Amino acid sequence: MELIVVKSQLEGAKKCFDLLNEAMAGGAKTLGLATGSTPVEFYNQVVNSGLDFTDMTSVNLDEYVGLDGSNEQSYRYFMNKHFFEEKPFKENFLPNGKATDLEAEAKHYDQIIENHPIDWQILGIGQNGHIGFNEPGTPFEATTHVVDLTESTIKANARFFEHEDEVPKKAISMGLASIMKSKKIVLMAYGESKAEAIKGMIEGEKTTALPASILQDHAHVIVIADEAATSLLSK
Ligand code: GLP
Repeated sequence: MELIVVKSQLEGAKKCFDLLNEAMAGGAKTLGLATGSTPVEFYNQVVNSGLDFTDMTSVNLDEYVGLDGSNEQSYRYFMNKHFFEEKPFKENFLPNGKATDLEAEAKHYDQIIENHPIDWQILGIGQNGHIGFNEPGTPFEATTHVVDLTESTIKANARFFEHEDEVPKKAISMGLASIMKSKKIVLMAYGESKAEAIKGMIEGEKTTALPASILQDHAHVIVIADEAATSLLSK
């Protein structure tokens, strides 16, 4: 893993934007995209740039079960607002959180990933080390699956909802094995609340207790993190 330490989320977003530019110049056609507060500044850089995505495909990591794109808390709504409304793509894929048969939806999403291999994937990280919605304990072999969100993730994400009990208890997420198939990965992390997870991911043992530690096995991962998020690293 290559680590780039930045002074601010804005500096990190600009670095990430440079990496996207490079990837697209190198022929990347399918982007793996993430939600959460971490990539917001990066998406601002992108929508204010001259980059054109009309020939590109995006595949998102995850979606809450029970929310459709008209719900402001859904990841579909987030992506439309922060990215797709400003920069249209050829195709945008997110799991359908309203599917009646979620198992079938998971299989269908795996097929989408297989048909659109991800060239360049961005990731945030949860305080407990989750990526996408792959919570601690998720097998490394997992493909797209339905997830029971942990208490800590529900609490961490409650800030986007009016009440904690409005946070969906389930999500549908691309699995760790699917994320590992992306050709290149850029993970961003900002703030002290991510320091434990970043330490475990980079310096800890590879363990399903900290899902992001699987990235130690990936040949092309760049981590962009600020000083607070890297404060617990030993070197
Ligand atoms: C959610 C998303 C993850 C994201 C994480 C961190 O759980 N499923 O993809 O990385 O939150 O969110 P934030 O960037 O807001 O800290």
